[in-house]
Amino acid sequence: PALTIAIDGPSGSGKSSVSKAVATRLGVGYLDTGAMYRALTWWCLDQGVDLTDEAAVVTVAQDWPLEQTTDPSNQRVIVGGTDVTADIRTTEISSQVSKVATNVGVRPILQQLQRDRMAAIAAETGGVVAEGRDITTVVAPDALVRILLTASEEARLRRRSTEVHGTADEAAIAATRDQVLRRDRDDSAVSQFTVAADGVVTVDTSDLDFDESVEAVLAVVAS
Ligand code: CDP
Repeated sequence: PALTIAIDGPSGSGKSSVSKAVATRLGVGYLDTGAMYRALTWWCLDQGVDLTDEAAVVTVAQDWPLEQTTDPSNQRVIVGGTDVTADIRTTEISSQVSKVATNVGVRPILQQLQRDRMAAIAAETGGVVAEGRDITTVVAPDALVRILLTASEEARLRRRSTEVHGTADEAAIAATRDQVLRRDRDDSAVSQFTVAADGVVTVDTSDLDFDESVEAVLAVVAS
């Protein structure tokens, strides 16, 4: 059977970097579902669609020009011909994406798109690592391996701060805290990522560095 691996976790858990490294090590494709919510947010803003107009955003989600590479070592996201790989990571998009992600009409559309893409990637590369907030529970509850990556709030803020500001000193963490905690709160309505669902293995990365986190996930895959 295809090596389908579902990984969920909050921001700062190391989910994206660890998932990519795991996909590379296993020689399978990679799907970043958060990038899809971010790309849809970017496209709506680009098209002048009001993100609080739920019906309008659903209409856009039904037919939008998304292209996403599946190579874990070369991730590109292209919308309507524009490469938005970097632009979807700005604080502007990070602060708006929950409006799209909590839209109850949008979620089933993106979830189905994600299932289809997982199947296509698995058919092509023999497997797939898909990461997000609801992959282990809603998108791919039948995945061969399902993992919840967690980390203490302190560890998550430290990592996020280093990612965004290049440092984890006190000022940088303070600047990161509000945004991360607000998005956790905004997301909590649609994604339960603090407690693992039945059959999902929890990997706590609070005290693990990057390489140790990758090894811990690979150990679960091998078990
Ligand atoms: O950057 P970070 O790891 O925090 O998040 P991400 O994986 O890029 O996802 C960005 C946003 O997309 C999240 O804050 C959620 O609002 C949403 N999301 C979701 O609702 N469901 C998913 N499967 C993945 C992301």
